[in-house]
Amino acid sequence: MKLIGPFKQIVTLSNLSLRGKLSDEQLEIITDGGILINDGKVQKTGDFEALKIEYQDAEIESTEGEQIALPAFVDSHTHICFGGNRANDFAMRNAGKTYLEIAESGGGIWSSVQHTRNASEEELLKTLLERIDFLIALGITTIEIKSGYGLDVENELKMLKMIKKAQEKTEATLVPTCLSAHLKPRDFEGNNQEYLNYIITKILPKVKEENLAKRVDIFIEKSAFQPEESKDFLLKTKELGFEITVHADQFTPGSSRIAVEVGARSADHLEATVEEDIKFLAQSDTVATALPGASLGLGEKFTPARKLLDAGAILAIASDWNPGSAPMGNLITQASILAAYEKLTTAEVLAGITFRSAFALGLEGRGRLENGWKADFVTFKTNNFQNVLYHQGSLKTENVYINGDRI
Ligand code: NIG
Ligand code: FE
Repeated sequence: MKLIGPFKQIVTLSNLSLRGKLSDEQLEIITDGGILINDGKVQKTGDFEALKIEYQDAEIESTEGEQIALPAFVDSHTHICFGGNRANDFAMRNAGKTYLEIAESGGGIWSSVQHTRNASEEELLKTLLERIDFLIALGITTIEIKSGYGLDVENELKMLKMIKKAQEKTEATLVPTCLSAHLKPRDFEGNNQEYLNYIITKILPKVKEENLAKRVDIFIEKSAFQPEESKDFLLKTKELGFEITVHADQFTPGSSRIAVEVGARSADHLEATVEEDIKFLAQSDTVATALPGASLGLGEKFTPARKLLDAGAILAIASDWNPGSAPMGNLITQASILAAYEKLTTAEVLAGITFRSAFALGLEGRGRLENGWKADFVTFKTNNFQNVLYHQGSLKTENVYINGDRI
């Protein structure tokens, strides 16, 4: 047993509801607190001095200076396994070029596919681990990672295998997702329907056999896959035993409805979601995931997070870190900016990047500093937890703990 502290403040996020709006008065803040760890889990939180007396056998791990502690963050949507770079896409978009012009001059998702296919396993693994370390340094210890830049059996498996290899080399929890349905690759001979069928018959059986992912994602959008064929695909993947998540309503509304209908764990993006679909989502257990990094990368509007919360939805916030639409990768900056634009309370933002996003990944017992929950937490050298979002990502973490161990 180990007692870590004292912390000026510990924000436990205990007792906050899974869905709907939250006020900051609901936050449980322990002052001069300690975190008692047993076997990688939180055994207890409370007054540091009182815990010290109560658990005399506990080894004491003293903190230096004034620090606050929060549950570690969960990034439930990333595409951080990729080759190449799309800085030119960003520059061209900002110079007024259209999607088509960018694609024609060698940009877009297809360019990342070519770079990822050409990358060696070693290169792919190295850059993936660098990005994972960047996220850990931000206090993120659970990271979802999608395939989707391979788009054929060989390269989708290559990506997923590198994610599995990365898991052997990091203390963070990686959650792989198969996004072979990101786009029909240009070199596939056949229509969308045939490509989706190829995923079902050729890619997913191997993914299952080699235990590379338990989740499947699809990009439903005019430029990618259409609603009906996507629904059919999702129902089939469900029959194969996969959990489902959807890139929904990014530019065109309608697909979040499909996500709810097929019982997806989450519907992500939702920048274009219309009022009636907000209600539909809010009445379901499908997590609505805002991806402010994509809005910032593309210069597009934000997900209507305020409306979703007011309607009672389960709102998560994730980075969507990818080489094209969301190259920043700083979830804390993005969530703080979303809060300012959408008027989200601190409790709503913190819930959105911890236990609510963990729920989107089907993970229980993480994202709160609660008895029996995974002891992943992050500390900042400050005396007030509000400073974390206030500085919009520029307040650096002091320490990151995974299973109660400082890493
Ligand atoms: O989540 N929307 C589709 N997919 C990614 C973008 C991927 C890319 O541009 O490479 C997204 O924004
Ligand atoms: Fe995405």
